[in-house]
Amino acid sequence: MEKKELLYEGKAKKVYTTDDPSLLIVAYKDDATAFNGLKKGTIVGKGVINNQMSNRLMARLAAAGIPNHFVEELSERETLVKKVTIVPLEVIVRNISAGSFSKRYGVDEGIPFEAPVVEFSYKNDALGDPLLNTSHALALKLATREEIDRIRELALAVDRYLQDFWAQCGVTLVDFKLEFGRLPDGTIILADEISPDTCRLWDSATGEKLDKDRFRRDLGGVEDAYAEVMRRLMEHE
Ligand code: TMP
Ligand code: ASP
Repeated sequence: MEKKELLYEGKAKKVYTTDDPSLLIVAYKDDATAFNGLKKGTIVGKGVINNQMSNRLMARLAAAGIPNHFVEELSERETLVKKVTIVPLEVIVRNISAGSFSKRYGVDEGIPFEAPVVEFSYKNDALGDPLLNTSHALALKLATREEIDRIRELALAVDRYLQDFWAQCGVTLVDFKLEFGRLPDGTIILADEISPDTCRLWDSATGEKLDKDRFRRDLGGVEDAYAEVMRRLMEHE
């Protein structure tokens, strides 16, 4: 399958049409941004790691019964995916306090929750992806109640699977962001990516951050952290 036209360029990926109207090609870049694009940089080799990691996790999730857009890895940075209409919600699942949760509610990072927290933001860069609840999402007609119920169910299933998988790799899954899309028949499937850009991953033994927070917070060792989580994942292939 060949790239035809550039359909969309995001902060970390480009999306191309193909000869098949039901399939797209995603190309992962090394560009990194944070704080809604305010901070810009490059994480050398990130595109390759995020592509390969996301594909391996998506394949595992599909085998575990969680439908998603992954079709075939085409090259180090490029993947064939099913075309969906993205539901404009950023779906965040949290197992341990961190990031904007800690900031918003004034709690330390690193406090485990008794049950996962599911959070939605409105995927809208101009508004800075504001937090919203189900009734806001319904009022804005971002999704139907049935779709939101399904998205929540799938997000929690992803959390259960990935927490267990990462634990086997000696990595604690703190939180992550998912995006979902609609197939032409209306079926909701998981889309976008699952990578150190979109997850908080802490070394289970030392608590060391192995994700994009190293870039967001200028902690250094960003490339090494991405390579380390990839190495741990590959050991479990
Ligand atoms: P937060 O604590 O900043 O709200 O982030 C929660 C999780 O979502 C964290 O794993 C990083 C991920 N995330 C994204 O993937 N994209 C984003 O734009 C933001 C803000 C967070
Ligand atoms: N990628 C997002 C942005 O640029 C934010 C983040 O991941 O922190 O804004």
